[in-house]
Amino acid sequence: MLKKIAICPGCQTKISCEGEIGQNVTIKCPNCGRSGPIIFNSEFKELDFYSLNEPFAYAKILKDVDSLEKTYKVIEPFLSNEEQKILNYIWETLLKSFKIRIDEIDSKGVEDYLTEQVENVINDYEININNISKKKILYYIKRESLGYSKIDPLMRDPHIEDISCDGPNTPIFLYHRKYGSVRSNVEFQDEEELSFFVIRLAQKCGKHISIAEPMLDATVPDGSRIQMTLSDEITTRGSTFTIRKFRADPITPPDLIALNTLSSEILAYFWLAVENRVNALIAGGTASGKTTILNALSLFIPKDAKIVSIEETREINLPHPNWIPGVARSGFGEVVADKMVGEIDMYDLMKAALRQRPEYIIVGEIRGQEAYVLFQAMATGHATYSTVHADSAKSLIHRLEGKPIDIPRIMLQALEIISIHITTQVNGKRVRRCKQIIEIIDIDPTTKEILTNEVFHWDPVEDKFIYTGKSFVIEKIRASRNISKEKITDEIRRRAEILEWMTKNNVRTFKEVAKAISRYNENPEEFMKKIRNQKEISKDKIIEVLEKKPEQDLNLIQKNNQNEKPIELSATVYENSQDKLNGFDELITLNNTEKLQINNDVKNVKEVNNKSIKNLKNIVDVKKENKR
Ligand SMILES: Nc1ncnc2c1ncn2[C@@H]1O[C@H](COP(=O)(O)OP(=O)(O)OP(=O)(O)O)[C@@H](O)[C@H]1O
Ligand SMILES: [Mg+2]
Repeated sequence: MLKKIAICPGCQTKISCEGEIGQNVTIKCPNCGRSGPIIFNSEFKELDFYSLNEPFAYAKILKDVDSLEKTYKVIEPFLSNEEQKILNYIWETLLKSFKIRIDEIDSKGVEDYLTEQVENVINDYEININNISKKKILYYIKRESLGYSKIDPLMRDPHIEDISCDGPNTPIFLYHRKYGSVRSNVEFQDEEELSFFVIRLAQKCGKHISIAEPMLDATVPDGSRIQMTLSDEITTRGSTFTIRKFRADPITPPDLIALNTLSSEILAYFWLAVENRVNALIAGGTASGKTTILNALSLFIPKDAKIVSIEETREINLPHPNWIPGVARSGFGEVVADKMVGEIDMYDLMKAALRQRPEYIIVGEIRGQEAYVLFQAMATGHATYSTVHADSAKSLIHRLEGKPIDIPRIMLQALEIISIHITTQVNGKRVRRCKQIIEIIDIDPTTKEILTNEVFHWDPVEDKFIYTGKSFVIEKIRASRNISKEKITDEIRRRAEILEWMTKNNVRTFKEVAKAISRYNENPEEFMKKIRNQKEISKDKIIEVLEKKPEQDLNLIQKNNQNEKPIELSATVYENSQDKLNGFDELITLNNTEKLQINNDVKNVKEVNNKSIKNLKNIVDVKKENKR
């Protein structure tokens, strides 16, 4: 017996039904009474079904039994001819009557405003429509005006990594975290529809795309990265776009251990290296996880260090307070000296970064001239980290030395670590692995060959990481800090232990990991004592290793949005419960509504001082009381 979930096309009710392969079952909606056939065909196997925008949009993943091809089916409300006509009519009336720009109202206000406007049109023009149809129509109006139109359900799916549209009349392809590359049932019918969508999407990102400038890299308001082209000027099939979806919950070092992308030992090595300002480049193919690694490793940068990041489109996110995020911008109009007026490219940003006297420089990706300045920065004592497209140390060096990067061999010495990343298969599953960690030791004075040392490599048979037994970087750190071999080995072991502790105990959010790292840095002995003494962790509580005064317990994190939208503040408030759980403080876990409430309360606090913290603590205490 097979099970299926059907969505009633009339009222969007979810109906579960059962049948045998090949059977045709008639089902009746318990809500509106509508009935219809459900075919349990043998050609497709249903792999998954989940909601994207309840009760309007769902995802169904099917597998063709013969070809094994997977399809991602977006299910949205069905509109009858009559409903479609009403939708078109309301939409056109709204377009004519809007007096304010939707993007000027805040997101919550705009939803209410739209609902009100639709109600007004229905009442003013005495449109005869039932409540269910009204809701469906409102869904499409919101999807078109506030959302991402046809791809809105896809943008809401947290399992999707990439969305690619290769032109009109071809299905949009997706990269799904669980099912890999899948074809979707979403497509743009013709070039007119697609170009219109691309132009609007560019506007939503605060940018401009036109036949004169048909290529654009931008950041979508939700933080996703997008690359788009307009019409058939440069892509023969017509307009295209590729979206790298933003991950609201970024991958952190403990996640990387859990995913077996890197080992705790490799991350401990990086922790020590980053702290000691050792330069590194993360290399790999497209979507091999380079930027993710770069961002995760940035958590090892000491809390108070001055950091400048430079990117083409904003992807790096750091919890550090002393951080200047720089994003390149395109110019407009006239071209003067190979550049458009107003253009600020990565090279300009790199030069400006050096004047800002940062201790750490993070460059999203090096591709051209800016790499030269990056190597100069390395050579002048700045700790620099970046990613580069290359699948081996050899091809990386080749890329760095070739045009347009053109780094002289002598300068390559400033680079100390190369981490190489791949996307591969393990037990039939697509995974990401760190293939090799290589150190650049020196340049042979006679042959001018680059001397390298492999510190770790991945063994594909065992799916394990092997330490080769020698690290020149660790040796250098040991010598500069004047510590014994035993001590530095012990240090790496301890850090690996902490990272494993985090992985095991689900201490994994950006904030939690950053906090644990800074606690360790402040008082290593004390921290180790705590994690070693800890016996068990209650499931519903996140255990934090905090020994701070109440005023420092409150952490205000600014989520700095690319478009400088209102600053979102979130607070974590800790309860002081001294001797409980071997001296750990307990973190009060709040549900989303409570978090939202606290966020709103924090927003109203103009100045963070002892009094406001006390107020917030009261708010939390009240909420905690209610919870009990
Ligand atoms: N170790 C990992 N395990 C699972 N998913 C990962 C891992 N690392 C990255 N991802 C996911 O893979 C996608 C690509 O990651 P990322 O942007 O870091 O790759 P990239 O190599 O920088 O890509 P590009 O070459 O396009 O710049 C993202 O959706 C990310 O969340
Ligand atoms: Mg990247």
